[in-house]
Amino acid sequence: MRVWAIANQKGGVGKTTTTLALGRGLAARGSRVLLVDLDPHSSMTRTFGVPVEPAPEGVMELFATPPRELASLVRTSAVERMDYVCAQTALATLERRSANQPGLGLALSQALSRHAGQHDYVLLDCPPTLGLLMINALAAADRVIIPTQAEPLALHGLAGMVRTAEMVERSRRRPMPVSVLPTLYDRRTRAGQDALKRMQEEHGDRVWDDAIPVDTRLCNTELLVQPAGAEGAYPGRALSAYRRALDWILASEAQSLEQAA
Ligand SMILES: Nc1ncnc2c1ncn2[C@@H]1O[C@H](COP(=O)(O)OP(=O)(O)OP(=O)(O)O)[C@@H](O)[C@H]1O
Ligand SMILES: [Mg+2]
Repeated sequence: MRVWAIANQKGGVGKTTTTLALGRGLAARGSRVLLVDLDPHSSMTRTFGVPVEPAPEGVMELFATPPRELASLVRTSAVERMDYVCAQTALATLERRSANQPGLGLALSQALSRHAGQHDYVLLDCPPTLGLLMINALAAADRVIIPTQAEPLALHGLAGMVRTAEMVERSRRRPMPVSVLPTLYDRRTRAGQDALKRMQEEHGDRVWDDAIPVDTRLCNTELLVQPAGAEGAYPGRALSAYRRALDWILASEAQSLEQAA
C-alpha cells in the first residue's frame, strides 16, 4: 500500500481536484484506491454528495479513544475501485485538543498501518494549514504531491511546503519524495509562463515538466466522482493532463522503490 499526501499550505491551488483526478486515474488502471478527506471544510466529502450536517462518520473517529478502525469508516463511491473516508467540520477542533494529548500526530499512520493490504493506494487530501492534520498526513505519507498554482505568488507557498517535506524526511528514516504539479495554468498569460519557468528552475526535476491547464469543465469537481462511462462525455484537457501527470508520478514511484530495494 502506498500513501500519497496531496498538500500545499496555500488554499485554492487544486489539492482536492488533484486528489480526485489522480484517484480516479489509479482506479481506472485497476488499483484499489482510498481517498481520505482531511480538510475540516470537507470539500471532497461534499463532492461525493455526503451532507456535512449532521456530521457523517469519518476521520474524527480515528482520533477517538480508543480509535475506530479505518475499514469501518470506508464508503464506496460510484467509481469502481475508488473508496473514500469523509471529513467532519469538527476536525477543526482537533488542533486545540492536540496540546493536551501527545501522540495524536501519529493517529493516521497507525490507522493506516492496521489497514495495510486493503487498498493499493491511499490519497490524503490535506487542509491548507500546517496543523495537526497535515502533520498526520506527512507522518503517514510515502510521497508528497504538491499542486501549485502556476502564478508568481504561489512560489513562496511552494518553497515553504518543500521545506516542510524535507524536515519530515530528516526526522524519520524513510525518504519523502516530492512531486510538484503545476496547476491552473493559463498558457496565454506571461505571469503563468514565468511562474512555471521559475518553479522548474528553483525545484528542478521534482517539478513536472508539463502543467494542468485551466479547464472550465473542472470547475465542477462532481464530474470526477461519476462512474467511468460518464467521463466519455467529458474528455477535457485538464483530465488528460492529469493522466499524463499520473504517468510521471508512477514512473517516479518506480524509481524510488528501486532505489529503496
Ligand atoms: N484545472 C482546473 N481548471 C479549472 N478549475 C479548476 C481546476 N482545478 C481546480 N479548479 C477549481 O478551482 C477551485 C479550487 O480547487 P480545489 O478545491 O481543488 O483547491 P484546493 O487546493 O483543494 O482548495 P482548498 O485549499 O480550499 O481546499 C475549485 O472550484 C475547483 O473546481
Ligand atoms: Mg481542498
